[in-house]
Amino acid sequence: MMAESRINGLQIPQHIAMIMDGNGRWARQRGLPRLAGHRAGTENIRSIVTTCSDLGVRYLTLYAFSTENWSRPSLEVEGLMKILGDFIDRETRSLHAQGVHLRHLGRLEGISETLKEKVHYALDLTCHNDRLTLSIAFNYGGRTDIVDAVRAIVAEGLSPEAIDEQTISRYLSTSGLPDPDLVIRTSGEWRLSNFLIWETAYSEYWTTPLYWPDFGPEQLRQAIRDYGQRERRFGGISQTR
Ligand code: IPE
Ligand code: IPE
Ligand code: MG
Repeated sequence: MMAESRINGLQIPQHIAMIMDGNGRWARQRGLPRLAGHRAGTENIRSIVTTCSDLGVRYLTLYAFSTENWSRPSLEVEGLMKILGDFIDRETRSLHAQGVHLRHLGRLEGISETLKEKVHYALDLTCHNDRLTLSIAFNYGGRTDIVDAVRAIVAEGLSPEAIDEQTISRYLSTSGLPDPDLVIRTSGEWRLSNFLIWETAYSEYWTTPLYWPDFGPEQLRQAIRDYGQRERRFGGISQTR
């Protein structure tokens, strides 16, 4: 279970999942439109990926657009779609060069053909990389993902006895990813907002009041240091107390 590594005495989580929240408030604080905040919120991703990679984190998952975010004004939704497309155009080559394997979590239905093509291009290009797996949860909702898994299990005609926890994990869009060890949320909110609700059953949580565009490698290192102080018990009893 503890497939973690240590660097300079630091216990490194194998999988970090981040809820990138606060872009809108970051923009408002500066008198800018919300989309300027969303755009700024893609600028720090490169340095976070590099820091994770340098520290030996093997899986990084970013929550970029939830199934509930469709309820925002259409201009904001369209802007967010465009920002994802621009991010793929701008970053895929350098991510590929760094050995990053890109994955998409969630549904591709509802997304424009052009954006779907970009996503497929990036996934195909990087599919053999294995230094770091970067999963982007986009049009993702934990409940929808469970619904889709149940539908696929039923469609395949599995018998009730054949279904266990591993079966369900295998049918989720996170199939093959280890559960997150650490969940980071920015902007001072303390909730999951439908992110990886199955996978985070035993994850450690860490939050900061900083808005997402202000989150960088320094805060990431702090989160990892704090994680190292936690005692994970997975329902067992304490080893030290
Ligand atoms: C997070 O920032 C990005 C998305 C949810 C797409 P928000 O847009 O939620 O920013 P706040 O929470 O309104 O500040
Ligand atoms: C969660 O943030 C979704 C993403 C970061 C993509 P929200 O801003 O949508 O969540 P709530 O509405 O504050 O719970
Ligand atoms: Mg928000």
